[in-house]
Amino acid sequence: MLKSPLAQARLHYKPSLPSLLSQIDAVIFRSITAEAGVLPEIAAAFPEISSFSLLKGEGSLRAKRKIPLRVGVVFSGGPAAGGHNVIAGLWDALRTLHPHSELVGFLNGPQGIVKNQAIYLTQDLIDSCRNQGGFDLIGSGRTKIETSEHLALALAAVSEWKLDGLVIIGGDDSNTNAALLADYFLQKKSCVKVVGIPKTIDGDLQNRHVAISFGFDTAAKTYAELIGNIARDAPSSRKYYHFIKLMGRSASHLALECALLTCPNLVCVAEERKTLAEVVSLIADLVVARAKLGKSWGVILIPEGLIEFMPDVAALIQDLTLQGEPSSVSLRVWDQLPQKIQHQLLKERDPHGNIAVSGIDTEELLMEMVVRELKNRQFEGAFNPVAHFFGYEGRCALPSNFDANYCFALGFVAAALLDQGYTGYMAFVGDLKKAPEEWSFGAVPLAQLMHVENRAGKIKPVIAKALVDLEGNIYQIYKKQASSWRLEDHYLCPGPIQFFGNTALINTTPLLLN
Ligand code: FBP
Repeated sequence: MLKSPLAQARLHYKPSLPSLLSQIDAVIFRSITAEAGVLPEIAAAFPEISSFSLLKGEGSLRAKRKIPLRVGVVFSGGPAAGGHNVIAGLWDALRTLHPHSELVGFLNGPQGIVKNQAIYLTQDLIDSCRNQGGFDLIGSGRTKIETSEHLALALAAVSEWKLDGLVIIGGDDSNTNAALLADYFLQKKSCVKVVGIPKTIDGDLQNRHVAISFGFDTAAKTYAELIGNIARDAPSSRKYYHFIKLMGRSASHLALECALLTCPNLVCVAEERKTLAEVVSLIADLVVARAKLGKSWGVILIPEGLIEFMPDVAALIQDLTLQGEPSSVSLRVWDQLPQKIQHQLLKERDPHGNIAVSGIDTEELLMEMVVRELKNRQFEGAFNPVAHFFGYEGRCALPSNFDANYCFALGFVAAALLDQGYTGYMAFVGDLKKAPEEWSFGAVPLAQLMHVENRAGKIKPVIAKALVDLEGNIYQIYKKQASSWRLEDHYLCPGPIQFFGNTALINTTPLLLN
């Protein structure tokens, strides 16, 4: 891919590593017994990997590796900025561990494993993608590896490439794939180890050890730049209400992070679980109250998952998923929806059973319903809504320094785990609010992250999605300010991600880490 002058300059950025990891051949992991075991259903589904302990990375002198490592890597799911740096970190660490180690990239996501389509990654290929956005080096995809045929094909592929390990870079569903493969390989007495890396712009892959997934920071900052610009336009042109839908799937983490960076007039936090009518009424109240102050403009953030969390629409979605049509109860909501939205709700679910919320024009639905509501209230002021959707714009941007450093370190942790023969783990890097040199690292057993969930009518073991905690810090910080944002305009314009200059501007960490 051709490179802009900025992209070329970024090729030379040297990510900062945790000090312990920069001595990769002196890294060991200490086992820490878990306080809580896994659920019985999970122990039954993953008999081989369910009793593993948490691992904490430490430094210790040990023998140098004598035999090269052969490792496969795959991107899974939607792109997230920094993915190429996970691969670069993995490569640099593997080559430091042994100069003849090899890295194989499976093409187009997990289907590349099933179809055995892969390439050898070379120094030149790796060097061409350092600190660059995107997953284009090897592509990504959403194939779910779950049938016994898929598992057998995957085992055949990793065996044919004579791999010692496989690194799966993905979100909750992709790391569920990683757990399935790790367990299956052990059952089949294969020595191929599997390690997962927490990726997703959505920020919903969080737990006590994994504070944040990579890509979230860059996506939030990219959207916040755009929202800030729009927020500056609103009181300048003084005539538009901007309805801005933001990616993030079920969870509202991205919308909240962007809200704290830009201070819009309203954020419809999905986890508040308001009904469709309640959300419409909330927005109509805002329009009427602002009109009394002579303000016919505004900025409203809408997480793409909002529609799934409205209890009335959620019941309708469930009926549509299970029986293909609304029930007598959900018919009432169905009838209120514009035809375009009805069609979008009927679209096929993804291979993991998720409804494609990014393909539902929730922003337009709300605009239309607010127009109806204002008419019912005989509102006579001006209301000119404009729809925006920021999603794909933020997934492949040049990674922020935070994501570039974080991903590079994750690649090193994955290499260290495979070097020492660990499987069935998700790599993590901790203490992320500190300087990268002080970051800690380790690995959490994938089985410990699992619970059972109803996916499209079937009970399945999956990694639990972390939603916004309404008792948590970030939501409470937002809540304290939200009422003053409604009518007074406190818009902030954060501007573009900074890569050079003032360290306070280039090394900011995501607010979510609070
Ligand atoms: P992952 O969960 O795979 O990281 O995907 C993130 C995401 O960007 C969501 O925010 C969004 O809903 C979805 O991907 C869009 O998927 P697609 O790329 O298939 O349109």
